[in-house]
Amino acid sequence: MKRIGVLTSGGDSPGMNAAIRAVVRTGTYHGLEVFGIKRGYQGLIEGDIDVMGPRSVSDIINRGGTILHSARCKPFYEPAGRAQGAAQLGKHGIEGIVVIGGDGSYRGAQALHAEHGVGCIGLPGTIDNDIGGTEYTIGFDTALNTAMDAIDRLRDTAAAHDRVFFVEVMGRHSGYIAMLSGIAGGAEEILVPEEPTDVNGLIEALRNGRQRGKKSAIVVVAEGDDAGHAIDVAQKVTEVSEFTDARVTVIGHLQRGGSPTAFDRVLASRMGVHAVEALLQGETGKMAGIDNQNMVLRPLAEAWECRTQFDPRLLRVARVLSV
Ligand code: F6P
Repeated sequence: MKRIGVLTSGGDSPGMNAAIRAVVRTGTYHGLEVFGIKRGYQGLIEGDIDVMGPRSVSDIINRGGTILHSARCKPFYEPAGRAQGAAQLGKHGIEGIVVIGGDGSYRGAQALHAEHGVGCIGLPGTIDNDIGGTEYTIGFDTALNTAMDAIDRLRDTAAAHDRVFFVEVMGRHSGYIAMLSGIAGGAEEILVPEEPTDVNGLIEALRNGRQRGKKSAIVVVAEGDDAGHAIDVAQKVTEVSEFTDARVTVIGHLQRGGSPTAFDRVLASRMGVHAVEALLQGETGKMAGIDNQNMVLRPLAEAWECRTQFDPRLLRVARVLSV
C-alpha cells in the first residue's frame, strides 16, 4: 500500500483534528502518501481530494471541529454513490481509507469495502460514546467536560434563587453524557433514554429533596429522553407542582465544539497510529477501539450491533449521592 486517504463523516466531535493529524503523520512516518478527502463521503463522490503532508496538519491538535469538514451524505447509501466514490479513489491510486466518524459512517465504509475491495479502517469520532467495540469515542470526554462546566455555572444561579433547573445535554439515543455529567455536576436527578421517566416520581423526588433541606435542584435531561426534551419535562413539572419558577437551559451544540481535552487528544493520537498501521498490515473492515487501556481492532459491524450503554450501576451512584 502506497497511498491512503482520510475523511471525517457525520456529526463532528472535538479531537477529530487530532485524529487527522495522527493519520497523516503516521502515514508519512511509514513512507505513504496521504490524501485528505473533504466533506466526508460527499467530497469522496465529488473527488474533493487533496494530498496532505505533516506540515498541513500543524497547529490543529488543539482545535475543535475538523479541517476536512464533515457531512452526512445520502447518495453514499446507494451502490451507485459508492461506485462513484470507489472510482475517485482509483483515480488517485488510493488503496485504503481511514474513516473518522460514528456508526452511520462505518456502514458506508463496510459497503465500500465489500463492494469495491477498498481497505477501510474506522476511528470512533462522536460525542455520544455509544459505539460498540470501544470504551471511549473521540470527543466524548470534551463534551462531558463542557456539559459539566455548564452545570457548575447553572448551579450557582440555581442556588442564588432557590430554583429548579432543567439542563438538556446531547444524546439522541444515548444517556452517556447525561449520566456522567450529572454525576460529575452533582445533579439531583438524571433522565436518560435508557430508563423510562416517571414525571410524577420526579416531582416526588424534588419534593423529598426540599423536605431534606435542598433549596435548589439540577435535573439533567438527555435530549432523547422518553418524557421529551427538557422544555417538555419542565412544562409537565411546572403545570402540576409547586416548582413553578423552574428554568430550562439547552446546552446543545456547544458540546460539539471547543478545544479537545488531553484525554481526547491522546485517544485520537493513539487511534490514528493504530488505524494506519492496521491498514499497512492488511487489516480492513475494522474499527480501532480502546479496551482496558489497550488499542484493539474490532469488526466495523460491532459499532452498531453492540452499542455501548452506560453501566446501570451509575444510576444508583447518582441516586445515592443526591440524598
Ligand atoms: O454527535 C451526536 C449528536 O450530538 C447527537 O447527540 C445529536 O442528537 C446529534 O448529534 C445532532 O446532530 P446534528 O444537529 O448535526 O444533526
